[in-house]
Amino acid sequence: MSASSFALLGTGAYVPERVMTNEDMAKVVDTSDDWIFSRTGIKERRIAAEDEQTSDMATAAAKVALEDARLTPDQIDLLIVATLTPDLPMPSTACIVQAKLGLPHRAACFDVSAACSGFVYALDTAWAMLQSGRYRHALVIGAEKLSTVLDWSDRTTCVLFGDAAGAVVIGPTPEGSKAEIVGTKLYSEGENTELLWIPGGGSAHPAPGPDVPPRFMQMKGREVFKFAVREMEDAARDILEQCGVSADEVDCVVPHQANLRIIDSIAKFLKLPSDRFFVNLELYGNTSAASIPLAIDEARRSGRIKDGSLSLLVAFGAGLTYGSALVRW
Ligand code: COA
Repeated sequence: MSASSFALLGTGAYVPERVMTNEDMAKVVDTSDDWIFSRTGIKERRIAAEDEQTSDMATAAAKVALEDARLTPDQIDLLIVATLTPDLPMPSTACIVQAKLGLPHRAACFDVSAACSGFVYALDTAWAMLQSGRYRHALVIGAEKLSTVLDWSDRTTCVLFGDAAGAVVIGPTPEGSKAEIVGTKLYSEGENTELLWIPGGGSAHPAPGPDVPPRFMQMKGREVFKFAVREMEDAARDILEQCGVSADEVDCVVPHQANLRIIDSIAKFLKLPSDRFFVNLELYGNTSAASIPLAIDEARRSGRIKDGSLSLLVAFGAGLTYGSALVRW
């Protein structure tokens, strides 16, 4: 049976206990709180414990989202995990989370790889699968243990990222509610792969060795910055046009939490005051696929997103990928 509209029925998030401040970071690489905060807006980030895997964080966030949606695991028939830091190359983190959550065997479970745009990609995919009428309730999770793919001697990257997970439950709009996913839009520009990448560790360079590139994240920060601004502006403008909504009608913009200066330029482009944006990167840094679901969960719990609110989600990441979504709560 196909429902006419689908909504985000619940949200959840999880962050590891260990806080690493900019002062702590300055003990690891040659940097300072002043440099990091003035260039990015980041003050601290969370670092997962050695025995705490991406699937553990994903499972913890999903449990909260299920509770929020008042659903039990046996009601979920689709699970998508967006991550660039899976527990293992094989199987998918989604299958590991399925077992940890006790989802039914008939559930379809798989990972999506779109780096920091991963959550928006997974949301779009889940929504399309629900609209097909073949699935009823989806769990969409963004989870990352980025601390394992950072070069802790490279101050140009390691200061920017953190570990976390966020999750949403999607299902048919409840009777009497106007909540719905209004639209989604995805893009990629594969010719810019090398601006932001992990060059080693995949099939092109599987084994560590003297001539093999490292399996750590590398980035051309300035170029990525320019792309991020242009891509996020495109993604925001297009989804508003596609859905016939003006920027002014958006109650809360939840952008990918990479850099406050990038977010400020999107605000100028959309001609919206900065208080229309939800920002929590000061506390968590860039948590890639976890960034948007972590932010929307905090925005809901703090009352910034209320029932009936219209939210614009906008992301960019390695690929380069970017995307947006409009959601009525
Ligand atoms: N602490 C202190 N100094 C640092 C530093 C750090 N953590 N990282 C870089 N620097 C130095 C550089 O070595 C450089 O020194 P130099 O002028 O002597 O060569 C100087 O600071 C300026 O570096 P630059 O890279 O030009 O800084 P920037 O103003 O472009 O800011 C970023 C760097 C990374 C903050 C910025 O480019 C950015 O945010 N890019 C987008 C990154 C992003 O969002 N990635 C995730 C995508 S999902």
